[in-house]
Amino acid sequence: MAKEFPMSNKNFDEIKRIAYEITGINLTDQKKNMIYSRLARRIRANGLNSFDQYCALLAQANSGETTEFINAITTNLTSFFREGHHFDFLQETVFPELLRKNASTHRVRFWSAGCSTGEEPYSIAMCLKEKMPISSWDIKLLATDLDSNVVAHGKAGVYNLDRTDGIGDSRKKRWLLKAADAKSVRMKTELQDLITFKQLNLLHDWPMKGPFDVVFCRNVVIYFDKETQRTLFDRYANILAPGGYLFIGHSENLHKVSDRFKSVGRTIYQKIR
Ligand SMILES: C[S@@+](CC[C@H](N)C(=O)[O-])C[C@H]1O[C@@H](n2cnc3c(N)ncnc32)[C@H](O)[C@@H]1O
Repeated sequence: MAKEFPMSNKNFDEIKRIAYEITGINLTDQKKNMIYSRLARRIRANGLNSFDQYCALLAQANSGETTEFINAITTNLTSFFREGHHFDFLQETVFPELLRKNASTHRVRFWSAGCSTGEEPYSIAMCLKEKMPISSWDIKLLATDLDSNVVAHGKAGVYNLDRTDGIGDSRKKRWLLKAADAKSVRMKTELQDLITFKQLNLLHDWPMKGPFDVVFCRNVVIYFDKETQRTLFDRYANILAPGGYLFIGHSENLHKVSDRFKSVGRTIYQKIR
């Protein structure tokens, strides 16, 4: 079927180059249809009528389109308690260890890097509230993403009921409130108080000093090439406390990417140097 806006190979190469340069996301040819439909929306929204015009707009400094472009090309699929074994490992292994290890400082820092709409950090926050001495310790969770729309969603903490399937009934009772609209729920303020949501490009400088005890970076680096992954995992090793934990996505691994971690579980790593 004829496309509304023809996208030449030159256009796609240009889009790939810009996406890689700004975000590290490596758009393969298999993503061409997906990118077409996401950017066709941007072409319409800008009142343009071709990919040539859209690429020219992206090339203009201060066009304001870069943010929209980034938000359009990111894939934000996520869910509450996704890869549930990670949260069991937190409660059964990591928390008891942190209670011993950080007993003199009472300080614990988590980072959900590439947090999307917030389901991952809220799942971690529920675990923390359930098993860690939140009121007497200094416990904080940073949640960051490149896409400004998903960060705003996470900060608001409101989710459609049908997105909450991964949360068991007892947790739903304990941590969710009915939102004004009966089809949505809102995260309790005490969970929100634990989390700081910020927009952050993982490829840029990080304003935080750390050290972090735990970093979740799940289903983010699948979109990056090996070189970008190597640099990123090295930076995670630098910002993690000695013995700190790194959780990655189900289809990711550190093989030939970093030798600064040892595997301690399914897609769970511990910093060794
Ligand atoms: C598939 S989601 C994963 C969400 C969550 N971590 C999970 O596993 O359910 C990937 C997220 O990585 C973010 N992302 C992609 N490139 C990024 C970058 N360079 N810096 C920060 N976040 C990035 C995307 O915006 C997206 O929200």
